[in-house]
Amino acid sequence: MTRHDTLLQWIEEVKLLCQPDAVRWCDGSQAEYDEMCALLVANGTFIKLNEAKRPNSFLARSNPNDVARVEDRTFICSNRKVDAGPTNNWMAPADMKAMLRPLFSGCMKGRTMYVVPFCMGPLGSPFSVIGVEVTDSPYVVVSMKIMTRMGKPVLDQLGEGGEFVPCLHSVGKPLAPGEKDVPWPCSDTKYIVHFPEERAIWSYGSGYGGNALLGKKCLALRIASVKGRDEGWMAEHMLISGVESPDGRKTYVAAAFPSACGKTNFAMLVPPPAYEGWKVTTVGDDIAWLRPGSDGRLWATNPEAGYFGVAPGTSWTSNPNAMASCEKNTIFTNVALTDDGDVWWEGMTKELPAHLIDWRGEDWTPGCGRPSSHPNSRFTAPAHQCPTIDPDWEKPEGVPIDAIIFGGRRATTMPLVFQAFNWVHGVFLGANMGSETTAAAAGAVGTVRRDPMAMLPFCGYNMGDYFAHWLGMRRRVKDLPRVFHVNWFRKDADGKFLWPGFSENMRVLEWVVKRCRGEGRGHETQLGWMPRYSEMTWKGMEEFGPPEFDKVMQVDIKEFRQEILSAGELYIDLYDHMPKEMVFQRELLVGRF
Ligand code: GTP
Ligand code: SPV
Ligand code: MN
Repeated sequence: MTRHDTLLQWIEEVKLLCQPDAVRWCDGSQAEYDEMCALLVANGTFIKLNEAKRPNSFLARSNPNDVARVEDRTFICSNRKVDAGPTNNWMAPADMKAMLRPLFSGCMKGRTMYVVPFCMGPLGSPFSVIGVEVTDSPYVVVSMKIMTRMGKPVLDQLGEGGEFVPCLHSVGKPLAPGEKDVPWPCSDTKYIVHFPEERAIWSYGSGYGGNALLGKKCLALRIASVKGRDEGWMAEHMLISGVESPDGRKTYVAAAFPSACGKTNFAMLVPPPAYEGWKVTTVGDDIAWLRPGSDGRLWATNPEAGYFGVAPGTSWTSNPNAMASCEKNTIFTNVALTDDGDVWWEGMTKELPAHLIDWRGEDWTPGCGRPSSHPNSRFTAPAHQCPTIDPDWEKPEGVPIDAIIFGGRRATTMPLVFQAFNWVHGVFLGANMGSETTAAAAGAVGTVRRDPMAMLPFCGYNMGDYFAHWLGMRRRVKDLPRVFHVNWFRKDADGKFLWPGFSENMRVLEWVVKRCRGEGRGHETQLGWMPRYSEMTWKGMEEFGPPEFDKVMQVDIKEFRQEILSAGELYIDLYDHMPKEMVFQRELLVGRF
């Protein structure tokens, strides 16, 4: 176990509060993983999939009231309200704890409390952050084994006095003596709570995704963003990938797209056939920690060890690398079960299976009027199973970033690609990002909202201060990355996508990489630098001519008038913390129009 006094003392306190029947320290071994999976099968949470088709893999179906992140139940409990800012829910730490303590009191009765030491970032790296999640959910334990470095090696690294982030988690469903458990215990009352100054997390009532796997959004984004502000680095909702051209030169990019807006797909991009000799490699698909290096560049690491990827839409055509990543050793949640014991989801194959058991456990046939899988159903798979995993993905110092790409899901207004004039303008583009809401968060889907840097749900402090921190990177990084804005999701009047996307995004990526290398041509517009049709590669996509290109690149003054006005809401909300650079950039944009 451990001789870490603070940890032992905290575990003792949590035990007294939550009153579990037993406590188990997780060692992270394969034997433990197998034992926990067998337990999950025995209690009905897991269905073992066909070993021949999907080795060592399982399907879980959650409670229909527990299928996504709950943003309205997520709190940043900084000491001062102003430090959480107007875009976060806030309550004073003492008040929040006073309210939560009765909820947690006895909440693990009838259950085992698992102690899960985990490390965000490679073990042994000076930049990694250790957490200890205490949870009453064995589903969380096995998921953490895939998503993080977990178990005994982490305790060894922690030693007797190392720092860790205490992460308290309960599904909030104690069992009375003799009461039979349900397959997916959870509570109608949910709280996802962060104490940024104390660097602590309390999560109650949900067993799903970012609500429950506390290393991911809670630690590696919300707590880490605060740590990054204090220490001079950044925690971002970004994929990281490498682009190698036929001459062997490699350029790394990081891209911030909101939840369910294509990060996994872009991180694992397969160049189209015409791009012979080009290679795209994957460092991470969801979170990037960005640090100034001693060489004056910005370096990125992926703190995670697995993918928690959106299933629907993933296919051997749209994302073969994701399909290969989840071929084995994978946990599927809320997808459909086929009659031969495999999984299926909308968009996996063109041909629909004749019969399925849907994510609620009910019979499904084509034309029954319901999707077989929940739109936010996901696969949890080890990162190293990705065929394009970058050879340097676990390097402690990370990879040097030359481009930062921002992109939202926008049916109108935003062109396919443009480049910021400079860093401050780039920060402005990120700050003004808008995107349609998706099924990754509970609530209405498809309405455009401001989601600055794709961090609206994940920034652990005042968004205005966050912009200032971005701007401040100018002083810390000599060779700042170039900044770009993309939109794969523009539609025509009939609702058809104007851009084919997926593999073809390589054409945009090539332009981005060439701009970073000082090779790509472009021209100045009101928005930034844009490629002309002739300045991109169209080999193998000749049917997409200048008329199609003009449509997807069009900048409409009327639409932008609306865009600037709508982004103005954020400036009102953040008025007393908004860096004046943002205000001036806005004026310059208006001026250019
Ligand atoms: P989180 O894991 O929620 O943070 O999101 P993510 O950004 O990793 O989401 P993911 O890559 O799984 O996004 C999935 C959605 O994006 C699906 O609806 C895909 O069909 C869609 N998508 C991905 N790439 C493209 C593209 O190039 N064009 C279009 N039109 N859709 C895309
Ligand atoms: C997201 O919503 O951005 C995710 C999924 O990556 S979750 O981990 O559930 O937050
Ligand atoms: Mn995400």
